[in-house]
Amino acid sequence: MLAYQLAVFGNPIEHSLSPEIHTKFAEQFNLQIVYEKILVIENDLPKAVNEFQQRGGNGANITVPFKEDALNLSSELSERAQKAKAVNTLIMFNQNQWLGDNTDGIGLVNDMLSQHIVLENKKILIIGAGGASRGVIFPLLLENPSSITVTNRTANKAESLAKEFGVDFITFDEVHNKSYDIIINATSSSLKKETLAIDSRVFNSCQFVYDMMYGKEETPFLTWAKNNGVAKISNGLGMLVYQAAESFFQWTQLKPDVKLVIQHLR
Ligand code: ATR
Repeated sequence: MLAYQLAVFGNPIEHSLSPEIHTKFAEQFNLQIVYEKILVIENDLPKAVNEFQQRGGNGANITVPFKEDALNLSSELSERAQKAKAVNTLIMFNQNQWLGDNTDGIGLVNDMLSQHIVLENKKILIIGAGGASRGVIFPLLLENPSSITVTNRTANKAESLAKEFGVDFITFDEVHNKSYDIIINATSSSLKKETLAIDSRVFNSCQFVYDMMYGKEETPFLTWAKNNGVAKISNGLGMLVYQAAESFFQWTQLKPDVKLVIQHLR
């Protein structure tokens, strides 16, 4: 039997880069792994994970739209999964139980740190109040920024998310009246090639902008930021690879060279 029989569960799943990323990590250690993509329909996550486990599966990633469902599959949860109220990594313990973890936020933090972005004492704005935003607030807080402010098109969602994490809240209409060192786009707007109804003055004192989305082309959000004088921009490809590296570490206790794999994907 292989030591690591892994899979990512989601819908859609066809375009997931996770098998390629984890195979590259494993190659760095001459480790033999199997990493599958498993398409899950509607409410079938428990069934799909159970079948996988029955045939030897012992580690998994969970992606959209099942990260909340995966909470219920977990016998135990890491602190960061509890805070995120979402699980993207299942780690086997006691032979047949799952520890649910969430590596998305640490993936974002580690990608920024690797790009020499200082988070300590910085004013951070997070745009969006969905799952992507929820997953990163706690790991960002651990880096001791001077403030985190959450804004969202639907204001009351940002307000309740901010309250939950004890961070600041501001509306789209008001957001440009404060200054930020770092702005993170955690909305799905770039995916849909939409722009945000925010005043461009939001970028006035901003040195670094991060879009959690990625693609072959620059996202509309990053282009907009650049056109408004932001010196340094990044898409979310690094976050994807760093979150994978943290999952890989949780399964294997091995720390892969992430930069090599980011270069490979680029
Ligand atoms: P995810 O789990 O990926 O965060 P989600 O829960 O559907 O996905 O949330 C998507 C986020 O993108 C929301 O914050 C959404 O704003 P609303 O709550 O107002 O819907 C935001 N979003 C998507 N398209 C947007 C757009 N064109 N302009 C502003 N915000 C947008």
